[in-house]
Amino acid sequence: MNDRDADKRLAATAAVQEVCDDMLVGLGTGSTAAHAIAALADRRLRIETVATSVASATMAESLGLAVRDFAEVARIDIAIDGADAIDARLHAVKGAGGAMLREKVVADAATRMIVIADGSKRATRLGGVALPVEVLPFARRYVMGQLANHFVRLVERPDYRTDNGNIVIDGHGWDDTALIALADSLVAIPGVVGHGLFLREIDAAYIADNGIVTRLERGRNPR
Ligand code: 5RP
Repeated sequence: MNDRDADKRLAATAAVQEVCDDMLVGLGTGSTAAHAIAALADRRLRIETVATSVASATMAESLGLAVRDFAEVARIDIAIDGADAIDARLHAVKGAGGAMLREKVVADAATRMIVIADGSKRATRLGGVALPVEVLPFARRYVMGQLANHFVRLVERPDYRTDNGNIVIDGHGWDDTALIALADSLVAIPGVVGHGLFLREIDAAYIADNGIVTRLERGRNPR
């Protein structure tokens, strides 16, 4: 295990200490979230889970966790998920793993949403990473044209479909000075079904740097 992976596991292990018996827990997607799923299974709590991807559901079930169908769930107690970049205000970019739409729905349904990450994900500006946009395949060319107003370069993921059957277009080179306006513009494009900007969903973050875990809480962090 390299240092970065060790930090991912440390952040994940710290975050799952917030989980108690009888909670309904949202499982994220990606390598950091996988550490949280394993750490949760290790704790052998009396919990149920919902998953943000088929991959995470499969992993959780293989480790003995009960996974419910999120389609039958309106609220969950806590969600724990990774991020591609996160700033001190707990604004984040997610979706390198392509699960950002389900991740956002589950995050929004959660009473408390926690991001877990290694220190490389800390960002003072979010615009340095690609912003993934999930798009209805039918609308591909039209949406590409609209997205060109917001990104310097657009790259469609080759031979890729999300768990929802949609394509993902990664937007590179974007203005991160007006995040709410950008998020509003993206969701207003017919054919865009989701994007990786998380601006209000995240309540806390556990970030591990070289073996030391820092917890950030919304509204209580230095700018
Ligand atoms: C998947 C995600 C992941 O949480 C994000 O990409 C971080 O992944 P990792 O923990 O593997 O670095 O948003 O859609």
